[in-house]
Amino acid sequence: MMVLSTRGVMFERLIVIVGTTGGKEIDMALPKDFIDTNDFTKEQILAIEDLGLAMKKAIKVDGYYPHLLRNKSLGMIFQQVSTRTRLSFETAMTDLGGHAQFYGPGTIQLGGHESLGDTARVMGSLLDIMMARVDRHKDVVGLAEGSAVPVINGMSEFNHPTQEMGDLMTMLENLPEGKKIEDCTLAFIGDATQVCLSLMFICSKIGMKFVQFGPKGHQICDGALHVGTEEERAEFGKKLMEIGDENCKLSGGSIVISDDIECIKGADFIYTDVWYGLYDEEVEGENYMDVFYPKYQVTMDMMNFAGPNSKFMHCLPATRNEEVADEVMDDPERSLCWVEAENRKHSIRALLATLGARTPLNDEGVEYSAKAELHAALDKICELQA
Ligand code: CP
Repeated sequence: MMVLSTRGVMFERLIVIVGTTGGKEIDMALPKDFIDTNDFTKEQILAIEDLGLAMKKAIKVDGYYPHLLRNKSLGMIFQQVSTRTRLSFETAMTDLGGHAQFYGPGTIQLGGHESLGDTARVMGSLLDIMMARVDRHKDVVGLAEGSAVPVINGMSEFNHPTQEMGDLMTMLENLPEGKKIEDCTLAFIGDATQVCLSLMFICSKIGMKFVQFGPKGHQICDGALHVGTEEERAEFGKKLMEIGDENCKLSGGSIVISDDIECIKGADFIYTDVWYGLYDEEVEGENYMDVFYPKYQVTMDMMNFAGPNSKFMHCLPATRNEEVADEVMDDPERSLCWVEAENRKHSIRALLATLGARTPLNDEGVEYSAKAELHAALDKICELQA
């Protein structure tokens, strides 16, 4: 994944846990925006995944493209470079019969001369849906608050929720024999990046076991990527763990964070992310290779230590032979990172079709094998929006 060169300021909006009360998930309408998976219930997240899988089948198996956003326009704001996220949003929008516009760094007003609220208001009147990859989480939150149309978070320094959806889809498609998703363990190896934190959010939401195997000082409970004094980071880390614990209370999931490799034993999915760049500008005197290598490099020995059938995942881009060895990344049996990259598109297509103002499916005269699944998945989304 893309790594930010500077780390976050105090988040103006950390997380609001919604939809929960007294340890029970309550019914709630689908939120307008997709900023954080903690804003959604497990049922809503799985319904979006079902829609994504049904559309994937319709397109890949039958060549049927469900034009659910016919003539609609998506605005894509990128304050940083991107391969997977940009391509996924753009092609998904085309698949749905709509059009995507790309605004690269410095090409539109975004909190400069014009206030963010004014920009959001205008963009919301010109577009049907928006996505933004931002330097600062508060900006994607501000866009969502100021815009009348749905806004999707394409990654901030805090989290990467569309990555979470692609990752969950990949795990659902690759469940170990005889296991449900709730029976599975995902072990994240290395630094508490926004992808690591996002995985803690989605795994705990779904009811999985989430493990972070990482060095002290680089664990989610240490404050993830948050910048501040040691006390501020510790306080922030405590809040992050409270979110995870609250999710687990509802879902039956669990969270383990440790620098002891024993914690990854039995993991079904081994996941890692880059080490480079996270601290280059803001933490003096610390060389990431000294911190992470070789203990936290994912090798085939580590994969086998976790279990003979453990699968490898990575959000990409990877720095080959730093956080992961070639033998793992390129192993056709163990590595899921390539299908995981493709699933960014299939899951993002579902997010767009869920949150966007849908046009009628109009497939009465068309036969395709995924038709019943696709209609059922759409009915479920409509029910959740009612
Ligand atoms: N994983 C991911 O977000 O990749 P990109 O930075 O290429 O979009």
